Amino acid sequence: MRGRIIKVGLLGLGTVGGGVYRVLQSNRELIAGRVGARIEISRVLVRDVRKDRGVPLPPGILTTDPEEILNSPEIEIVVEVMGGTGAALDHVRTALARGKSVVTANKDMLAVHGKELFQLAQEKGSDLLFEASVAGGIPIIRVLKQCLAANRIQQVMGILNGTTNYMLTRMTNAGRDFQDVLREAQALGYAEADPTNDVEGYDAARKTAILASIAFNTRISFQDVYVEGISRITTEDITYATELGYVIKLLGIAKDTPEGIEVRTHPALLPQSHPLAAVSDSFNAVFVRGDAVGDTMFYGRGAGDLPTASAVVADIMDAARNIVHRAPGIISCTCFEERPLKPMGQVRSRNYLRLRVIDQPGVLAQIAKVFGDHQVSLAAVTQRDTRGDRAELVLITHEVAEQNLRDALAELGELEVVEEICNVLRVEDDG
Ligand code: NAP
Ligand code: HSE
Repeated sequence: MRGRIIKVGLLGLGTVGGGVYRVLQSNRELIAGRVGARIEISRVLVRDVRKDRGVPLPPGILTTDPEEILNSPEIEIVVEVMGGTGAALDHVRTALARGKSVVTANKDMLAVHGKELFQLAQEKGSDLLFEASVAGGIPIIRVLKQCLAANRIQQVMGILNGTTNYMLTRMTNAGRDFQDVLREAQALGYAEADPTNDVEGYDAARKTAILASIAFNTRISFQDVYVEGISRITTEDITYATELGYVIKLLGIAKDTPEGIEVRTHPALLPQSHPLAAVSDSFNAVFVRGDAVGDTMFYGRGAGDLPTASAVVADIMDAARNIVHRAPGIISCTCFEERPLKPMGQVRSRNYLRLRVIDQPGVLAQIAKVFGDHQVSLAAVTQRDTRGDRAELVLITHEVAEQNLRDALAELGELEVVEEICNVLRVEDDG
């Protein structure tokens, strides 16, 4: 078997593609032994064949013509590490339609077009593997599909974006403000020049959609995920959260509830004792609660050339092994149910609120009445940062349905004594 060569076409040779190339080279013998066949990259699609790639490449391996990969009868596995939902999607469709196995790291594509692509893979009996699309080097897709397959998964909660975790960590530990840490994250190469995808939570929401689909065996798309980013978090919120015994994290949350699947990505206050609270800097982690296993957590690098390549190459090895054993397609789509989504207005949580109010007698009573009228029960109220005739109120609510809180906030905003509703953050403390 080890004499068998499985040919791979690589679409993209940037950060991840370069890492894949290096791992396949440096661990060549080990990988061949583990798979029972040699894996050989025979063609690589790029935009610019003259660009220095920082890896020694055989002459002529680079091409700008996708057909040299997609139309090659020798190439059995296509690895898509180009990114985006334009050419990458077209090439993945074509590769699957032509019966090739596909490995991808592309959460943007899967979180929107997953249903169509998995159906196509199933029809053609091909593998479509995507371990690197969520949390980079952390094994989590296989964990949910295989290692925890005996469990009814109750919740998945993850720190799925390294850029924002780095920023929130710096805001917490160094007391720096949002714009300051964003510039730092850009200088370090974590955040892109346009940081919208990371900072506004879209990147984490795409990963949350993929995780929720696998955890609950139902197709959940990016559009189904409620999303808020971290751009409204201030140093005041961080300070108050710390004093109250919490850390602020951008979380991807998916829960199985009697009213349907909850799926959301937003910043939240987590108790300092929660396992995810200790995950700092650019690290990612995924906390999974199963009915048999209980609580588990998976931690590591969510991005970077070699950590991401670790997951991509493992997928290539699985696809190659399936080809060797004539079983491609055996790791098929697991979305065999159609579960309803729980509307965001029905999601229940505790909440942290920061209000700037006029500091005079009777103000608290007016505010408390509005909350009471909407069945929002207050667990704690403290007055902070009194300046002149203005004061900041920090409130924690008991668990309440999101819609009740929204209605109360709309009415609070109309009160003359409430100058500003500075921030509202959910508190996730049932972990
Ligand atoms: P990247 O550094 O920008 O590399 C993209 C590569 O694809 C480049 O080699 C580029 O060619 C090639 N490419 C792009 N569009 C092309 C087109 N139309 N035709 C031909 N070649 C094209 O991207 P990356 O960071 O490696 O990310 C790749 C994928 O992995 C994305 O889906 C990303 O979300 C995912 N991912 C990345 C990370 C990470 O740490 N970077 C982690 C997890 C997942 P040229 O080099 O010639 O421009
Ligand atoms: N931009 C992502 C992050 C990495 O900061 O975690 C790629 O998914």
